[in-house]
Amino acid sequence: MSALLEAWADADGAARARRLFAATFGAEPTGVWAAPGRVNIVGEHTDYNDGLCLPIALPHRTFVALRPRPDRTVRLVSAQEPGVREVDLDTLGPAGTAGEVAGWPAYAAGVAWALEREGLAAAGSVPGFDAAVDSCVPAGAGLSSSAALECAVAVALDDVAGLRLGGDDAGRARLADACVRAENEVAGAPTGGMDQAAALRAQAGHALLLDCRDGAVRQVPLDLAAAGLTLLVIDTRAPHRLVDGQYGRRRRVCEDAAGALGVPSLRSAADAVESGQTTPGAVLALLDDDEQRKRVRHVVSEIGRVRSLVARLAQHPGAQLEGSALDTVASGLDASHESLRRDYEVSCPELDLAVETARAHGARGARMTGGGFGGSAIALVDSGDARHVAAAVDRAFAEAHFDAPAFLSAIPAAPAGPVRA
Ligand code: GLA
Repeated sequence: MSALLEAWADADGAARARRLFAATFGAEPTGVWAAPGRVNIVGEHTDYNDGLCLPIALPHRTFVALRPRPDRTVRLVSAQEPGVREVDLDTLGPAGTAGEVAGWPAYAAGVAWALEREGLAAAGSVPGFDAAVDSCVPAGAGLSSSAALECAVAVALDDVAGLRLGGDDAGRARLADACVRAENEVAGAPTGGMDQAAALRAQAGHALLLDCRDGAVRQVPLDLAAAGLTLLVIDTRAPHRLVDGQYGRRRRVCEDAAGALGVPSLRSAADAVESGQTTPGAVLALLDDDEQRKRVRHVVSEIGRVRSLVARLAQHPGAQLEGSALDTVASGLDASHESLRRDYEVSCPELDLAVETARAHGARGARMTGGGFGGSAIALVDSGDARHVAAAVDRAFAEAHFDAPAFLSAIPAAPAGPVRA
């Protein structure tokens, strides 16, 4: 089986970013900051519907060595991409305008732009900077490598520009808003905000219950190891893209469906079902369009699954997650995958094979995670079975002539911040 992709220790990640900085810019950085990738346990395609989701921060992080400049130039180098890219903060603008920036630098420089647009820093006050990036978050794997980059730059600029937002959750929520704005407007990816919240607001040892309607969070203790469980991440290596049309189309159909139902967002429909005011069938009967009906069925049921999983995890934290409580969590993961596959239609053959094979080889539950159309799946497995499940997925992929998958173990880790090592 392919080896588990280990997370870098902070000291190692920081040393890599520092070395790249010195080799590229011939100077020492002011400091190194890092932000994690994420996996979502449940609550998929709910964030842009004002719904609930339950991500964790991964131990895999993106490291940014950065030094402010006296001008408004941004120079960027990445260990994962060739060349040095230069961006002028005074001409940088949204995707589709003359100030558009192509490729990965949009996610980094876009944060400086968005901090000003969000009013978190005065216009023209965020300094230019030199930055070197290195990361052990696999790119294009649906594990939010883009949000990790944005959020690492955000905490770095928060420090060097003296914004003082990173010290508490309220400030971090505002940094997350700026990162979402950078991603939506500068990079042109119409994503929902879960990823940036996970990278900035999750805590080690906890899943983050995020209410996307008002941005409220609750830290849900999650100690899978104490329950003898491992959350195995299967990166299918099927390329996943959020800037192509499918993700944006899902979002539009949901907005149209909310309009047809006469509610501000599909969250209202989910709440009405939750409180017993209506039933899922009655909601769907109000819609004429088959595509809208399928998407709404997913979103409403998925928000319900977040509620029931959180209720179980709250009653049975750590080692008490066993028996029927564990069965409920596991079957919630399975039901989420089925709903994403059948109703939301964002799965793909690689994700389905990963999920089916993991289940057939002893996983308690499994589902795709993230935006879909490729990317990663998660499988909740007894810790002693993780290698066996991964080996079975490896074999199944080889037999199907898919690219070899990669595996990570997801342990709820710390959010973005300075690396003191
Ligand atoms: C991607 C987006 C998120 C979210 C998920 C689906 O990861 O970046 O905002 O919508 O897809 O849950």
